[in-house]
Amino acid sequence: QELQLNLEQIEKGGFDHFMLKEIYEQPKAINDTYRGRLLREDAIIKMAGVEDNMKKFLNANRFIIVACGTSWHAGLVAEYIFEDLARIPVEVEYASEFRYRNPIITEKDVVIAISQSGETADTLAAIKLAKSKGAFVFGVCNVVGSSIARETDAGAYTHAGPEIGVASTKAFTTQITVLTLIALRLARAKGTISSSDFRHYLLELEMIPKKVEKALKADAHIKEIAYIYKDVSNFLYLGRGYNFPVALEGALKLKEISYIHAEGYPAAEMKHGPIALIDENMPIVVIATKTGHYDKVVSNIQEIKSRKGKIIGIVTEGDVTVRELADHVIEVPDTLESLTPLLTTIPLQLLSYYIAVMLGKNVDQPRNLAKSVTVE
Ligand code: G6P
Repeated sequence: QELQLNLEQIEKGGFDHFMLKEIYEQPKAINDTYRGRLLREDAIIKMAGVEDNMKKFLNANRFIIVACGTSWHAGLVAEYIFEDLARIPVEVEYASEFRYRNPIITEKDVVIAISQSGETADTLAAIKLAKSKGAFVFGVCNVVGSSIARETDAGAYTHAGPEIGVASTKAFTTQITVLTLIALRLARAKGTISSSDFRHYLLELEMIPKKVEKALKADAHIKEIAYIYKDVSNFLYLGRGYNFPVALEGALKLKEISYIHAEGYPAAEMKHGPIALIDENMPIVVIATKTGHYDKVVSNIQEIKSRKGKIIGIVTEGDVTVRELADHVIEVPDTLESLTPLLTTIPLQLLSYYIAVMLGKNVDQPRNLAKSVTVE
């Protein structure tokens, strides 16, 4: 028994929980994801699974991304990246909906399945369906040799290392990293990105691990914010563009481990419903980085403020405007707009983690949830 406990302590590497360890592993995990693939000096991205199937990717009418849970959120971020950089139309589907709605799939479609475990039953079934219709299926998995990795025609691993905490953290940011690499590679092949922009991207991507480290430095400040709001019963998360899926993911993290009801929303949709919920008891996390619709988000923040909502802004270092309006701000380093999800996700993970710990919840194994859902 004692031996067992000690072993677990060692596995947690000095952290109280696997989740916190995995949050802190992200700089390394992201680095491991692009190592050997992102060759900045040669200005190339090398991924065998993409290279070997380049024709299929380039001839595709559209990409259909299928996934569940957090992986589905990574798929939503990828939709923005693929469309923005590579100008390829993308649809993102919950695997469970896709498989049962008689979807239109042709041989000209590329289906990208995203799964940390590689064992999610609905995602696996969606792949089988897509294959039966002749689509080319590409997998983005973390677990090497998993069912989805084996079932797909080709793929790219995330190389995040084992993720033990049920709430997904480093799997999410590494999925986004892999998908960004693929989008950039395809954009280069299609000529939708200039060679100087491409180089700039590679440079910025290489700086992400250091910037994640910097974002993690807000830890103690986030803990204080967690303490203030731990007893509320509702949270709202808002973001726009690339950070809309991050808002969804932030809300999911909070629900999963603290059991506090939380909703993620595109900031501009707030006025079509969630605004009715806002009063002085409602904390609202707003992702308001300076790249991407900043002014629009600032006006959303003003609307919240005039209804007395409590504002927790996720902002770019040095921000002044949101700081004046918000009750709290958490800074992340500046980067290209499309890479901001890799940074803005970090404080949201920590916020949910500390709230759950303060509420005495079982962070690594939340009630009713499983790490991989191998049944329907
Ligand atoms: C479960 C896990 C989530 C995960 C989802 C999809 O619900 O608790 O953390 O995002 O399954 O899992 P996958 O392994 O396919 O990414």
